Amino acid sequence: MTDTLKVTKIAESKINQVDFSNLAFGTVFTDHMFVCEYKNGKWQTPEILPYGPLQMDPSAKVFHYGQAVFEGMKAYKDDKGDVYMFRPEENFNRINKSGERLAMPAFEKDYFFDGLNTLLNLDKDWIKPGEGNSLYIRPFVIATENGVSASPSSEYKFVIICAPAQAYYSGEVRVLFADHYSRSADGGVGFAKAAGNYAAQFYPTELAKAKGYNQVVWTDANTHEYLEEAGTMNVFFRVNDTLLTAPTNDRILDGITRKSLIELAKSQGINVEVRPVKVAEIVEAAENGSLKEMFGAGTAAVISPISGFTHKEKAFDLPTMEDAYATKLKKQLTELQANRSEDPFGWRYEVPAIEV
Ligand SMILES: Cc1ncc(COP(=O)(O)O)c(C=O)c1O
Repeated sequence: MTDTLKVTKIAESKINQVDFSNLAFGTVFTDHMFVCEYKNGKWQTPEILPYGPLQMDPSAKVFHYGQAVFEGMKAYKDDKGDVYMFRPEENFNRINKSGERLAMPAFEKDYFFDGLNTLLNLDKDWIKPGEGNSLYIRPFVIATENGVSASPSSEYKFVIICAPAQAYYSGEVRVLFADHYSRSADGGVGFAKAAGNYAAQFYPTELAKAKGYNQVVWTDANTHEYLEEAGTMNVFFRVNDTLLTAPTNDRILDGITRKSLIELAKSQGINVEVRPVKVAEIVEAAENGSLKEMFGAGTAAVISPISGFTHKEKAFDLPTMEDAYATKLKKQLTELQANRSEDPFGWRYEVPAIEV
């Protein structure tokens, strides 16, 4: 811990009020939160405080112009009680990359890691060991300067909150390939984890849900001919024994699960092609039986297998595969994340034990 982190502990933990066997994702939060304010051109002394409401003026810019970015990461506990994170530096770099696109100041790396390590030590009991259990960590930055003028804020809050999570079973996932609405455009903010990207997806996703789909797989805004990503996941397609996924660009989020799976799959001798994926080739592969699997990849669900898709009113079912890549890769990745297997890639980060 740096001497510059101020810690105020909660008087009494809420942990005994929580049913850890029945957690709805992202609804219960731990005892503490990390908060750091930006004003007068610099980040001020960061603080850890009891989890609670943030007070802001109704004219704060985040409410009017959506100047807000966020991250999603997880911490895991092994059977010895040690706590790990998965490639946290990637999340740190990405929140600053997102922030830069939204004209926000970069956060300090040592504030981020000291804050996170201290927070995880304070709220360690909320991280349960065992398969599927984790602590979901949500860092976010919001524009807090008062005044309804459409210009970048000169004040911000960087906040980290944490929610205990269980394995995420989504059941059968059927998706709709977008052919009208778009998630992002060239030169836009699609690559950033900007809050507004998610708000903009809600309406078309609700329309798709009303028709019985769980998710929309977004296609490129210009032609709707290329498959890009889903709501909060990158997507992979297995055609025969080759895994295909779209390259990241300024419309697609550079997912940490995605890039890890590409490396993991390659290390297993799986042929991986990172290239634009045409809707037409996936439809054709589904028709001729060479499309074996489709799955989403992201921090929350790790891998979410997709059982069918619809494109322009035509529905296709995917086969149920024995030895599915999705099952195998998910197992390998989650074991590595939770320190239940070797980590030849150096992806695991051990959270140092800190007396707080
Ligand atoms: C739009 C979008 N794509 C992909 C992902 C997957 O990224 P990651 O694997 O880093 O969680 C996410 C989730 O963060 C996302 O919001």
